[in-house]
Amino acid sequence: MPIQFIRSSLFASPKNLLRTLFRVTKLRSLAMGSYTASSQSSKLFFRQLFEKESSTYTYLLADVSHPDKPALLIDPVDKTVDRDLSLVKELGLKLIYALNTHVHADHITGTGLIKTKSPGVKSIISKASGSKADILVEPGDKVSFGDLFLEVRATPGHTSGCVTYVTGDGPDQPQPRMAFTGDALLIRGCGRTDFQGGSSLQLYKSVHSQIFTLPKDTLIYPAHDYKGFSVSTVEEEMLYNPRLTKNQEAFKGIMENLNLAYPKMMGIAVPANMVCGLQDTTS
Ligand SMILES: [Fe+2]
Repeated sequence: MPIQFIRSSLFASPKNLLRTLFRVTKLRSLAMGSYTASSQSSKLFFRQLFEKESSTYTYLLADVSHPDKPALLIDPVDKTVDRDLSLVKELGLKLIYALNTHVHADHITGTGLIKTKSPGVKSIISKASGSKADILVEPGDKVSFGDLFLEVRATPGHTSGCVTYVTGDGPDQPQPRMAFTGDALLIRGCGRTDFQGGSSLQLYKSVHSQIFTLPKDTLIYPAHDYKGFSVSTVEEEMLYNPRLTKNQEAFKGIMENLNLAYPKMMGIAVPANMVCGLQDTTS
């Protein structure tokens, strides 16, 4: 509704005034609750954020139906922590967790910095990553925020400790489901498998057993995109992913012949990320 229309109708009559206020409230609740045209959840607030130097996506999720509006960030980047925390504050959310899908080699995680700026926040990474964090999750664990939760699925292969966080399966959980795949599955691609305990065969099995078994309309939100894509679905990737639609042997051949240079940040990022982004902290 144009603002002009709301303003002019405010003065028409008491009945119109009530009607207009109702419309404004409705507009506000739509702005807070809806995140994508395909969302069926009235509880979830969702925002995809981007860090341009490493082409990393950070995801902000919150249960806005809960009085505290508990929120979490998936794969925050150190350089955009201030932006992310300002957004959290502006929206009146209470950040409780900062999660990583894996030990990143191309950027420093924002989790350590978030903890220093917002001390109540707990860092989360998989136990299999061998990293330090406040909470070390394992496959099958649930990360709850308000009435919503993320399920932890082990998807090693890009690194040995990669996990995919998937929104819950249940009547009050967002539909379609959403999978935050890190670098295990990218849109029409996947993470490299030539370092950090990577294994192409393991990655192939992870994606096929842990991601492609999700409902076909599950939304795929990766840790990166270099071509401008923002979201995909399980069905799309099962049909069109140029690597993972191949058989296991062909996939192995592709991954062994990528001939990629090592990430410029690797020597700095990996040691920092093993301690959640702060080399001088113990968590
Ligand atoms: Fe990665």
